[in-house]
Amino acid sequence: MTANEFRKRYIDFFVSKGHVEIPSASLIPENDPSVLFTTAGMHPLVPYLKGEKHPAGNRLVDYQKCVRTGDVDEVGDETHLTFFEMLGNWSLGDYFKAESIEMSYEFLTSELKIDVSKLAVSVFSGDDDVSRDEESAAVWLKLGIPEARIAYLGKEDNWWPAGGKHPGPQGPDTEIFYWTGDEVAPEAFDPENALWVEIWNNVFMEYDRTPEGEYKPLAQKNVDTGMGLERTVAVLQGKANVYETELFQPIISVIESISSSTYAGNERAMRIIADHIRSSLMLINDGAAPSNKDQGYIVRRLVRRAVRQLLNLGVEVGGVEPIAIAAIDTLAEAYPELVTKKTELIEALKNEEAKFGKTLKKGLKEFEKMFASAGHVSGEEAFVLYSTFGFPLELTEELVREKGADVDIDTFKSEFVKHQDLSRAGAGQKFAGGLADHSEESMKLHTATHLLHKALRMVLGDHVGQKGSNITQERLRFDFSHDAKMTDDQKREVEAIVNEAISKDLPMTFQDMTVEEAKEAGAIGLFEDKYAQMEGKVKVYTAGDDGDVFSREICGGPHVDKTGKLGAFAIKKEEASSAGIRRIKAVVGDKAQQILGSRG
Ligand code: SER
Repeated sequence: MTANEFRKRYIDFFVSKGHVEIPSASLIPENDPSVLFTTAGMHPLVPYLKGEKHPAGNRLVDYQKCVRTGDVDEVGDETHLTFFEMLGNWSLGDYFKAESIEMSYEFLTSELKIDVSKLAVSVFSGDDDVSRDEESAAVWLKLGIPEARIAYLGKEDNWWPAGGKHPGPQGPDTEIFYWTGDEVAPEAFDPENALWVEIWNNVFMEYDRTPEGEYKPLAQKNVDTGMGLERTVAVLQGKANVYETELFQPIISVIESISSSTYAGNERAMRIIADHIRSSLMLINDGAAPSNKDQGYIVRRLVRRAVRQLLNLGVEVGGVEPIAIAAIDTLAEAYPELVTKKTELIEALKNEEAKFGKTLKKGLKEFEKMFASAGHVSGEEAFVLYSTFGFPLELTEELVREKGADVDIDTFKSEFVKHQDLSRAGAGQKFAGGLADHSEESMKLHTATHLLHKALRMVLGDHVGQKGSNITQERLRFDFSHDAKMTDDQKREVEAIVNEAISKDLPMTFQDMTVEEAKEAGAIGLFEDKYAQMEGKVKVYTAGDDGDVFSREICGGPHVDKTGKLGAFAIKKEEASSAGIRRIKAVVGDKAQQILGSRG
């Protein structure tokens, strides 16, 4: 079964079980400064797992784009990918363990016709905090999984997020394994045996761990399941690894042909190229063009790493385009926007390739010289490679490591960042697989975004609509439709309106209503969004009270309870984002105070 068929079978099955299909969220999380990328299917659903009402209901199914860069150095082996897709079905306070396990079992054995003799499961073993998950084990037994095929493991293996050491919603999980060996599967399940491959994880979120380490039962018990598409398709096809499936083979064929080399013998290089170009495409598609900051810096690293591997295979500038075209083909059915935006996406990749391609060979020569003279590369030298030849720091590290030399990463980095905006260096570390953290600072910035949105409409007109939003601990970024540069007067007026709303200390409250009711109440929000067609209630946040409504917007939250908490608001920058879209970066609190003060 192809990946395209598999995605569809999965979605259709759960739709037939009363789930509503929801679209994949962007790879760039909105309003969540704690992570750079969407790293798991559950990530965009965190507010709903915590109890907010999802407009599409309480049984959801999706395939979610994910990017994980924590293991980027491992890419090239048989299992690691930076971009991957996760299939998931969700119960938000609806069904729980029994029904979830039964549906998974039915999907695997009746829908996909997998022989039950090829399946094994693991279940939470229990520990001092939480008792053994007898309930899940009993359901598996009832369905016909023999006791010997059930392993009981602790919080490192059968808990999500793994380990259970952080506060927040979490719970035991049960994992499903598929036998990939040629021989008949052994009677007993041995989780250490790598021929058993995990294909599905059903998480039962039933606890909220307090900061003190107590596991309190959650009012709303949820199910969060995750199935890695690439890996599952590979094992079901009997392929040795993901790169041998039709998701990668066409890309690899193109690399073989433009490099006149074979995959056999060049597996690592070709896997890196295929993986990195695929991820870069998906990330650029979600707005992360190559740059020196945050997500854009990761994309730059991915593209440049691929370009260097291409050069190793003898391919000079120009190789990226045919590879990207092949990658788009493999993903087009699931992400049709890749086809509509093809020219733009390939242009962005080609630009980055050209920029780096020009200096790559010279830089490599320079690196060889530096290394030959001292047997290592100093921090200053690394900076020269970066600033003159466009080598991301991580590339220099990789080159040093390939020579079998050790890198003193700390001095290396501290030298490097002396010359350098730190945001990039932080980018590499801002990876987390866990639950989003909604800090006070990000809630303030989120509330400021609503006030800004409203003020922009008051000053510029009702054509202004939100086109994107991103919040870090430092600032908010707001993209909106408007086709002219804002004048200084307009910017000051917007600031003044927002600051007045702050000084009035308006209450920030929400109500659940239908999309129709929200529109009638004058709420602004993402009406063109797929959710607008859906029944059920959405959350509407109001700044102000009945007598004096300042803004009303459809939004999942969370927000601060009073606008006064923002202290002050100032626009740092207003610029073009893309055609017809402007971008504002703004700050609150002391940072805003300083800017306002410095203007006298
Ligand atoms: N949250 C779990 C995971 O990421 C299941 O979706 O594996």
